[in-house]
Amino acid sequence: MTKPKSTSSQLINLENQYGAHNYHPLPVVLAKGEGVYVWDVEGKKYYDFLSAYSAVNQGHSHPKIIKALIEQAQTLTLTSRAFYNNVLGVYEKYVTEYFGYDKVLPMNTGAEAVETAIKLTRKWGYEVKGVEENKAKIIVCEGNFHGRTTTIVSFSSDPTSYTNFGPFTPGFIKIPYNNIDALEKALRDDNVVGFLVEPIQGEAGVYVPNDGYLEEAYELCKAAGVLFIADEVQTGIARTGELLACDYENVVPDVLILGKALSGGVYPVSAVLANDNIMNVIKPGQHGSTFGGNPIAAKVAIAALEVVKEENLAGNAKVLGELFRKEMQTLVDQSPLVQLVRGKGLLNAIVINDTEDSSTAWDICMKLRDNGLLAKPTHGNIIRFAPPLVMNKEHLLDCVSIIKKTILEFSK
Ligand SMILES: Cc1ncc(COP(=O)(O)O)c(C=O)c1O
Repeated sequence: MTKPKSTSSQLINLENQYGAHNYHPLPVVLAKGEGVYVWDVEGKKYYDFLSAYSAVNQGHSHPKIIKALIEQAQTLTLTSRAFYNNVLGVYEKYVTEYFGYDKVLPMNTGAEAVETAIKLTRKWGYEVKGVEENKAKIIVCEGNFHGRTTTIVSFSSDPTSYTNFGPFTPGFIKIPYNNIDALEKALRDDNVVGFLVEPIQGEAGVYVPNDGYLEEAYELCKAAGVLFIADEVQTGIARTGELLACDYENVVPDVLILGKALSGGVYPVSAVLANDNIMNVIKPGQHGSTFGGNPIAAKVAIAALEVVKEENLAGNAKVLGELFRKEMQTLVDQSPLVQLVRGKGLLNAIVINDTEDSSTAWDICMKLRDNGLLAKPTHGNIIRFAPPLVMNKEHLLDCVSIIKKTILEFSK
């Protein structure tokens, strides 16, 4: 006799009982994904409108990326960096030429890549800029989200992220986001070595800075002899309608941080890119990771980046993003429940007309789920919409009608 399949509620109970409660997932248990769709264990089909926080830009289980994964997994998985392997150098050449840098330092998760960028910037500060030992400072922005390590939460402004995780790592100056004057003032300190910034603050609620902010910030950093470090873990790899969100302002960051969609959501792959004058401060033994740059990651990342170009995902995100915001604006005009829509490319959010601690956005996401679309609130009353970039116009309009119907019919 075959064992009966577990139901959604049984599987949710298992996670609740045996897993740490460090997340609060929407109650839906997914069992399969393909392109823009996911299916739950009962077989119900949904549009994925989160894309694993912008990791699945290339769509679920993209055949080309999965083929690369399987072939490499059957050949060689991990050597560590104690030895050379026959794939890493090929990937390093590919990814550096793709983004226009001399060198890459491969890691696995976004947070690790941010940590790497911080270490690299500090070391550059001491060895190239000449800052006195242990005095280096990095400017960061209020509302930032760069990951969950002890150092990264040290400069978070979100109490949920940092409370009771101290003592915290010193050496960070926090300034308001999208505020050039504040940056200009903070840069007057000679011990400042870097400015770490998200081109759009994704987790904070898809805050898009003013046009020209990144370019001005970059120019100020350059004049002050400070590295401009762009965290494009969420905004990068075509999500916002350009390969990088910084491309909108022709800014080439001194240090570029990538993760998430670098693998199409197939494998944890992250990277820090920089030119030789910066990257060469790191010498053998000074930084690393057992899994960073492993052969599977290398092959998967090449395939994932090829898909981005072959399928013109940036162009698609740009066109569909404009259509999406136009449609959402009609909803803003029609429904008192929606205050505004904002975003770039296919990284967007709507702000629900309720207090930050209300459950309205969550309740709307539950109804969206019932109507076949998965999205999640970020910070209380904001709902982020970030579908896979392989979406077509027909899918998008179908999703728009689900969102409109759900919101127009919504009552508490
Ligand atoms: C801008 C940004 N940086 C870093 C991270 C951390 O990435 P990871 O969760 O892979 O550590 C995230 C995750 O959402 C992010 O949005």
